[in-house]
Amino acid sequence: RRNRYCTVLGVVSCSSFPLTCAGMLWMVLVLFMLPPHTCYAFCPGSCHCLHLGAVKCSGFSITDVPEHMPTFMFLLQLNGTKMEVMNEQSLANLNNLLRFSLTNSHLHTVHPHAFHVATQLKSLKLSSNDLSTIPARVFNIGMTNLTFLNLGRNCIKKLPTSIFHPLTHLQHLLLYNNELETLEPGMFDGLVNLKELKIHHNHITSLPAQVFWPLRNLKILSLSSNRLQVIPEKSFYYMPSLSYLTLYKNPMSSLPVQLMGHMPYIKTFHLFNTNLTTVPGNLFTNMSGLLTLHIQFNNKLQELPSDLFCYVQSHSVLQMG
Ligand SMILES: *[C@@H]1O[C@H](CO)[C@@H](O)[C@H](O)[C@H]1NC(C)=O
Ligand SMILES: *[C@@H]1O[C@H](CO)[C@@H](O)[C@H](O)[C@H]1NC(C)=O
Ligand SMILES: *[C@@H]1O[C@H](CO)[C@@H](O)[C@H](O)[C@H]1NC(C)=O
Ligand SMILES: *[C@@H]1O[C@H](CO)[C@@H](O)[C@H](O)[C@H]1NC(C)=O
Repeated sequence: RRNRYCTVLGVVSCSSFPLTCAGMLWMVLVLFMLPPHTCYAFCPGSCHCLHLGAVKCSGFSITDVPEHMPTFMFLLQLNGTKMEVMNEQSLANLNNLLRFSLTNSHLHTVHPHAFHVATQLKSLKLSSNDLSTIPARVFNIGMTNLTFLNLGRNCIKKLPTSIFHPLTHLQHLLLYNNELETLEPGMFDGLVNLKELKIHHNHITSLPAQVFWPLRNLKILSLSSNRLQVIPEKSFYYMPSLSYLTLYKNPMSSLPVQLMGHMPYIKTFHLFNTNLTTVPGNLFTNMSGLLTLHIQFNNKLQELPSDLFCYVQSHSVLQMG
């Protein structure tokens, strides 16, 4: 272990072996003159141990979190490994770890207790793997410090209704590029700190009414590239901080007359590649800050209500086609 080795060198005593002492001293001197991170040379194989406790590992020799990590490791990134299972002890004894990622690794199973030993985590990224399910109670252990969760680029088909409920401090929830077919009613309840929700590129055919209503601080919502036929009335009410919304590449043919709640900070709205034949005349009434609107490639869009753009700022960028 690097720490032990560094300490041993620090207390080397020369008194009993005067003849070898000179050589020893040289070695000690040389080691002390090297930059401090030289100690990280005692970092697990396949890993790079960077300054300030950041460790990055890759390679197919890795099948679980490597042992003998630096004590003050706060960040661990495993990428391109053969770690297909996160078991109960994978994250054990890494008490300083705040950011963990395991990506591009064919991870297919997360033990229901995998995070019981790492409740201190602030950021968890398991994107670009083979996850098709996540255990229902995997976060039910007071992971109240988790602010970032990325489960994108997996093959998740269904998520348990209450899976995110314990994550009351979550700010970023990324679920893009999965195979979700529905969102469960109430699944985002309690996520009052969420700023970013990305669910684009899934197979979602319908949205539960009011599913986004608890997200009062949401700024970014992506729903593009799904299979939405209809969008429930008032779906985007009670999101006064929303600044970015995408609905493009969905096959819906109409939008409800009441859809957008008061959202004065909305900047960007993407609504291209749909099957809309028209849009409600008041669609933008509550989107007073809109700067960029993409509404092109709506081949079935024949006509637009005459007063549609009355509320859009005159200097905004509008792309139609
Ligand atoms: C992670 O691994 C993938 C595939 O093994 C590779 O393409 C990608 O460049 C790696 N990313 C980083 C940041 O090392
Ligand atoms: C969350 O973070 C705070 C402040 O850094 C810390 O005191 C607390 O122990 C953390 N909670 C958990 C569950 O680790
Ligand atoms: C529009 O609807 C047709 C079938 O009615 C479908 O084939 C097409 O993919 C839809 N367009 C979009 C952009 O979803
Ligand atoms: C605009 O937002 C307000 C407050 O959220 C709501 O009462 C009103 O119905 C909305 N207008 C439209 C056209 O949806």
